[in-house]
Amino acid sequence: MDSIIVTGGKTLSGSIPIAGAKNACLTLMPATLLTEEPLTLTNTPRLSDIRTMSVLLASLGVGITSLEDGQKQILSSRKIDNHVADYEIVRQMRASILVLGPMLAREGHAVVSLPGGCAIGARPVDLHLRGLESLGAELELRDGYVHARAPRGLVGGTFEFPVVSVGATENILMAATLAKGTTVLKNAAREPEIVDLARCLTAMGAQIDGAGTDTITVQGVDRLRGATHPVVIDRIELGTYMLAPAITGGEVELLGGRLDLIGAFATKLCETGISIEQTATGLRVSRPNGRVAAVDVVTAPHPGFPTDLQAQMMALLCTADGTSVLEERIFENRFMHAPELIRMGAGIEVHGGTATVTGVEKLRGAPVMATDLRASVSLILAGLGATGETTVSRVYHLDRGYERVEEKLSACGAEIERVTEDG
Ligand code: EPU
Repeated sequence: MDSIIVTGGKTLSGSIPIAGAKNACLTLMPATLLTEEPLTLTNTPRLSDIRTMSVLLASLGVGITSLEDGQKQILSSRKIDNHVADYEIVRQMRASILVLGPMLAREGHAVVSLPGGCAIGARPVDLHLRGLESLGAELELRDGYVHARAPRGLVGGTFEFPVVSVGATENILMAATLAKGTTVLKNAAREPEIVDLARCLTAMGAQIDGAGTDTITVQGVDRLRGATHPVVIDRIELGTYMLAPAITGGEVELLGGRLDLIGAFATKLCETGISIEQTATGLRVSRPNGRVAAVDVVTAPHPGFPTDLQAQMMALLCTADGTSVLEERIFENRFMHAPELIRMGAGIEVHGGTATVTGVEKLRGAPVMATDLRASVSLILAGLGATGETTVSRVYHLDRGYERVEEKLSACGAEIERVTEDG
């Protein structure tokens, strides 16, 4: 198992290229199931979650050619010859549920394992299922699997999400493209990854209005065709690396960075005293001398402050001047980084979904570990600003969502290395 060792205290300067978005790619890949023609995705990130999705799709009969060192994928679903998404793969990654809508829409039947528990919260998939039922799907839960049928095809309908769900919006949006008639999705998620999916589906021949707003209207079509689509940049990777110079001091340009993808986060970061400038090639982030100011953060669906940046923001606020309150409103168990940050000297108290962070002058390096992706990277960020050495273990979580984290940061002057332990 690999660990990452960070020796803190280096000021960062340089540039970091931002990869394609993991969470966009994880819904764009299953979209291949909607068409017999090849779907080509460019700017795909090289991550273990993407490999897991490839394994799942391959198990269904999708042919996948990976080119340009993994940054281009050609997916071909000429024939789907297995309609069962197996528990052994689905349990590794919840986004696997996203094969359900497309497979059901094209084939009229699909069997997908329920994903099971998750480190950051219960994360049920009831909205995925209810949304598909509103399009006429007949569902049965048996032996841990969802058995879905739509023998006469899906039929458009209106579905209002009781809570905003990114994945359920994606699943039902994909299914609706091949349903008969019009589907209206109300209280839909507005994340940039939904907009990216809609753009790709439109290039494949789908008729979609309103992606990026809370009401999406889909006019079903008989068939979709192949397309080539560049994956939108990863706004969470972007935000994570914006926090690196914010924590260490210095100036870093995030290549490909776009302010329009990250408005609420950028506003908060500016409130702490960090300077952000949109350039022709990306976003330039610098930290003036002295400590950053404390700010309060409440996570919310897009365009609010993303839950996927809460842990990393907490790493910055640990050394802010004053007390910050962070409220996690999306997932019920997403403060697992707090006890680890406390081991590094942070002043954090957690009560339910609220963490109160009293800034200290400096964190101190320590051996730490985390049980999810964003928590892991927050510990690396904390280590960059801490005195001494921080060893982050269980970095397989990190490899799910950040490609070459140690290379990207060391190119800007960070002292960071990956060590592979024997056995
Ligand atoms: N929810 C339900 N029922 C459902 C679906 C969701 O109650 O059927 C609840 C969830 O339990 C949660 C809330 O609705 O409390 C929002 O969940 P959502 O469905 O929006 O999350 P998701 O689609 O499972 C995606 C990202 C997450 C990100 C969330 C929120 C992917 C593959 N994952 O998950 O990313 O945190 O949206 O923005 O797109 C990550 O990358 O680290 C990550 C966890």
